[in-house]
Formats: sequence, structure tokens, C-alpha cells
Amino acid sequence: MSPFRVTRTLPEDATGAALRADVRSGLTRTPKTLPPKWFYDARGSALFEEITALPEYYPTRAEREILRDRATEIAAATGARTLVELGSGSSEKTRHLLDALTGLHTYVPVDVSESALVLAGEALLEERPELDVHALIADFTQGLALPETPGPRLVAFLGGTIGNLLPAERAAFLTAVRALMVPGDALLLGTDLVKDEQVLVAAYDDAAGVTSAFNKNVLAVVNRELAADFHPDMFIHVAVWDPEEEWIEMRLRSRTAQTVKIRALDLAVDFAAGEDLRTEVSAKFRPDGVRAELAAAGLARTHWWTDAKGRFALSLSTAV
Ligand code: SAH
Ligand code: AVI
Repeated sequence: MSPFRVTRTLPEDATGAALRADVRSGLTRTPKTLPPKWFYDARGSALFEEITALPEYYPTRAEREILRDRATEIAAATGARTLVELGSGSSEKTRHLLDALTGLHTYVPVDVSESALVLAGEALLEERPELDVHALIADFTQGLALPETPGPRLVAFLGGTIGNLLPAERAAFLTAVRALMVPGDALLLGTDLVKDEQVLVAAYDDAAGVTSAFNKNVLAVVNRELAADFHPDMFIHVAVWDPEEEWIEMRLRSRTAQTVKIRALDLAVDFAAGEDLRTEVSAKFRPDGVRAELAAAGLARTHWWTDAKGRFALSLSTAV
């Protein structure tokens, strides 16, 4: 048992049922897809942390720079007593907010990755024994219920993870977040910005191959959880920029014609040689687009900050 509070808002078998449904529907359609939330078992979460330190992967450094420079302003604008963080991962950059929010009572990290929550919670317990940490193992796209904690609340969604949702999912997600907020609460949103294609592709196809291992980890998750027989070496990691959608797509490209068996689903999936399985989109944003998406969900943007190189943005919004 962890000494900090961890609440699982999903029934014990919900993850298994959701994975089965996603794998069946994603691998029996054309083109084949899998949702990116399945990357993040303990190994996937550790690989993501490795990605954040890669020379090519600028978003984490850019967002950390903004948080370092603006945390005091964010604290003054929100006066938050509860910080809720969606997709909190290691909570590493969050330290800037935790330091600046002097009246903070409770921190609520929310993540599907139990290993990431436990590691982050243990580190925080040691560093800040006075902080009330209430971790939630939950899918932030599925009817999130937050614990009763003192307001005002600041809801942070960092890392650019909103870009991993498709446009309709983003709209539903922002509307659901808005519904959790009362007047005086705020949303702090991290968004990666549109930039040169070469910079973007390199960030998702690093020379050391860490992103490739992260991408292929989803196959290991499906093998373990659903008794499948994917051979990760039979797939190539691909990162492509879609200039119409303005998103990076990560794909796994089948090296040859092959059939994969997923025993727990009693399913055989045929791949043609060169066929792609889309595992993630990572949308990149423009300032007006972010403002419009927030406004459509009933959120008024009050602040917009970028790093010095203009690569990444943080915006603060309030409920209208
Ligand atoms: N916020 C951190 C981590 C980003 S990685 C940072 O900026 O570095 C994305 C995180 O979101 C991972 O920890 C992953 O487990 C979590 N995640 C992805 N999809 C999720 C979902 N649907 N519900 C809850 N957490 C999710
Ligand atoms: C978590 N998310 C914002 C990352 C991104 O950049 O879209 C996930 C990732 N995928 C490949 N590298 C990192």
C-alpha cells in the first residue's frame, strides 16, 4: 500500500475490456489504428521519460522553460488550492507549479499508468511530506470524477497530450473538463505549435531509436494482455507529417505480408507488406485554433505564453 492516496476510478476489469474493444475495432478496420493510451504500461512510461531527454524531442524542454518563467504569474492568476493534473506521468515539470502555488492544499495527479503515478507519488511524498497527494488511476476521456477538495482548482493538462486526441475527441474532452469547473477555476493547457516539418519529424524519429521502441511497445502490451503473437521486429517505426491535418502520425509498417493471431479475441489479423497501423497522432497547434477550441467548450483564454523560440505554448483559461 502506498502511504499517499491512490484511487482507482475504473472497475478492476475495465482496462482489460477497453483494450479488447479498442484492439478488435482498431485492427479490423481500414486503415488499422490503435489509441495511444495503450503505450503506457511501466515500460512505455519509462520509455516516454527517456524520450523527454532526447536532443530531438524539444517539447518537454520548451514547456519546462515556460513553466519555470511563468509559474509565479500562474499562481497569482489562479490562487489555486487544488491542482488537478491530467496525464501527469512523472509530474517532473509540475514541480515549478507546486513551488509557486503557495496556498496549495491538494495535488490530484490523474493517469492511466499506475507505475507512473506510484513513482511520482513516492518522490513527492519524500520531497513535500506536507502536501496532500490524491492520485487517480483513471482514463481522462471517460467521465472523470474528481475528489472533493478545496477550491479554487487549477486543472493542468501539460506536455501537448491534448494533441494525441482526434479533433472530435478534443472537443468532447474540453467540454467535459469545462463541466468539472466552477467560476474561479482555471485550465492550464500545453500545446505544441506548428513548425518546420524536419524539426517535427526528427522529434518523432530520433537517431537513438527510443521513439521506435516506445511505438513498438504497444505491440508488447497487446501480446502480454491479449495473448497475441506480434513480432515487433516485423514492423518498422514511421513518423510522418500530415500538412492538411497539421499532425504527426506515428505508424508501425508491416515489413512483409503476415498474419497476427490475437488469441484472447479469437482473431487473426492480416497485414499486407507495407501496410501501416496508425498508433498515434500528435497534433500541432496555432494560437487562433487553440483559442477557438477553448471557446467552443465555454473556456475563455486569459493568458498565452510561449518559450523563447516560439516552439510550444501554455495557455490559461477560465470558465465563462
Ligand atoms: N504530462 C507529462 C506526461 C506526458 S505523457 C509530461 O508532460 O511529460 C502522456 C501521459 O498521459 C502518460 O503518463 C500517459 O500514461 C497518460 N495518458 C495517456 N492517455 C491517457 C488517458 N486517456 N487517460 C489518462 N492518462 C492518459
Ligand atoms: C504524450 N505526448 C504529448 C507525446 C507526443 O509528443 O505526442 C507522446 C509521444 N509520442 C512520441 N513521442 C512522444
